[in-house]
Amino acid sequence: MRFQEKICIANWKLNKTLSESRKFCQELAPFLKSNKIWIAPSLCNLSPLIQEFPQMTFGAQKVSKFSQGAYTGEVSGAMLRDLGVKFCLCGHSERRRHFHETDRDIASQLAELLKQGITPVLCIGETKEEHEKGMTEAVLTSQIQEGLILLGSHPVTLLIAYEPVFAVGTKEPLSADRVQKILALIANKVSKIHPHVTLTCLYGGSVDPSNIDEYLMQPAIGGVLVGSASLDMTTFKQMINP
Ligand code: PGA
Repeated sequence: MRFQEKICIANWKLNKTLSESRKFCQELAPFLKSNKIWIAPSLCNLSPLIQEFPQMTFGAQKVSKFSQGAYTGEVSGAMLRDLGVKFCLCGHSERRRHFHETDRDIASQLAELLKQGITPVLCIGETKEEHEKGMTEAVLTSQIQEGLILLGSHPVTLLIAYEPVFAVGTKEPLSADRVQKILALIANKVSKIHPHVTLTCLYGGSVDPSNIDEYLMQPAIGGVLVGSASLDMTTFKQMINP
């Protein structure tokens, strides 16, 4: 069993209706022997799934940076908590790119989640251009500093998912060796800036059944964030090896 200690988050993005999500969970639930397999379905499907599959862990793909008020279309941290949401992605590269979320927006989302006792999964990563220019460390440092800027000095638990933008949805994963080094660097930076944070670092970007073992073998990699390969039941089962 791969996921006694390491975490696998399935990020379903804009996929699966309620009936498709339900079918997937019905098939998966009897096989789940670990509570480290987390699912992030569409926001609108969270409530029925949480009620129907209480043994599973569900999270959201986004949260509002605002607590409440006149913000049409937004969903707050308190609303997610009330549904029983356990974790929430923040700052996924697709939200940064398509919805222009900034590091400051992401810092506010993170603060909203922590206020509600929901575990944030902060997603960071450099673009291909930044990577080729040797800017990886500078970009990650700035995303960490800015993203965590509203953390107080009390102890918190959070996850950081390192997802190089050019590896997301491209079938061009970064090598496990390289990821191991970068995650060690991220852990080091966070412990210096925020010594009170209990951190787990994940890797995301074209993880699939053929490469997942290489990542999970690395000590600094606390788990994986999986997009496309989490959508198909057969592929997903191969990855989590229930
Ligand atoms: P991918 O997506 O596995 O399809 O590359 C990962 C993610 O977006 O979190």
